[in-house]
Amino acid sequence: MAKIYQANSENIEMAAAIIRSGGIAAFPTETVYGLGGSAFNATAAAKIFEAKKRPFFDPLIVHIADIETLKDITQDTGKRLMELSENFWPGPLTIVVRRGRAIPDIVTSGLPTVAIRMPSHPVALELIRRAGVPIAAPSANLFGALSPTRAEHVLEGLGKNIEIILDGGPCEVGLESTIVKIEDERTILLRPGGLPVEEIQRVVGKIDMADNTGAEAPGMLPYHYAPLKPVKIFASSKDMDFGDKDAAFLLFKEPEGGLPDFLDKERLAVMSSTGDLKEAAAAVFQSLHKLDASSAKKIYAEAVPQEGLGLAVMDRLIKASRKG
Ligand code: TXA
Ligand code: MG
Repeated sequence: MAKIYQANSENIEMAAAIIRSGGIAAFPTETVYGLGGSAFNATAAAKIFEAKKRPFFDPLIVHIADIETLKDITQDTGKRLMELSENFWPGPLTIVVRRGRAIPDIVTSGLPTVAIRMPSHPVALELIRRAGVPIAAPSANLFGALSPTRAEHVLEGLGKNIEIILDGGPCEVGLESTIVKIEDERTILLRPGGLPVEEIQRVVGKIDMADNTGAEAPGMLPYHYAPLKPVKIFASSKDMDFGDKDAAFLLFKEPEGGLPDFLDKERLAVMSSTGDLKEAAAAVFQSLHKLDASSAKKIYAEAVPQEGLGLAVMDRLIKASRKG
């Protein structure tokens, strides 16, 4: 059974030693918690797939702490990669490029490409530096379940399958990284996430949307992020029946006329009282975790505007509503 350790220097070193010797550990990043092992060690990657019950066709993201490490992972030195990494690393952007030889097949699911990210969370950076290797890490949840934004979420989902969880508190961004792929200097969006697409476009100009996300990013199944309870999306909280005792309510913002008094708090989560998309992004997984654990039988979710971080929030809500 896993144990939660406060992410102090001593415990980061303990986790780094485990990773150096081929083991795995869960750790905080600014997006969501990750389950990491050495990106150069095929056995460590196999342990990650096993713990998450993740199918082998769904590749892992390789996390680095210094730009110098890039050369061990990809031979790509193109202008696009440099522009994107200089502007957005460390931070919630994953870049898919041609893969270098040091990365074992299992990490990339045999693809000729590799996904790379430099996280900004100080604990993640310290762990990678001390491990002395890039860290391959998917989100630290069971395959297909909600992503973890707190150490307790990791314990609930993976507690039986791993030993160590470093606790760095709640994740600031709260949504997985945005994933783009660079192909012939073209930039293609594979997954909306914690970095708004508009910000990327400000730097590299218009980017392409993958026409078939399923094939482009193998892990992007249409029903990812499904909580256990059915989720139904409403354009506005005005359209919801707050009297429905079987429903829990996930609201984007405080409704104009206020909330009915009879609504019990256990079945309610307001992502941002003022309707701020950054707050909503940080709260969406945490809120779904809460409502999934409530006494309700189903979750009614209010849509958010599909701009900025709202694109990624809606992507997660839509996937949660399409349970496989
Ligand atoms: O914010 C994040 O990205 C978090 C933290 C831990 O860094 N990680 C994360 O990993 O969300 P994961 O495994 O849950 O999602 C990674 C996704 C895969 O499902 C796959 O769709 C895509 O990244 N991916 C990885 N390698 C790829 C590749 N070579 N080509 C296309 N897509 C790739
Ligand atoms: Mg994931």
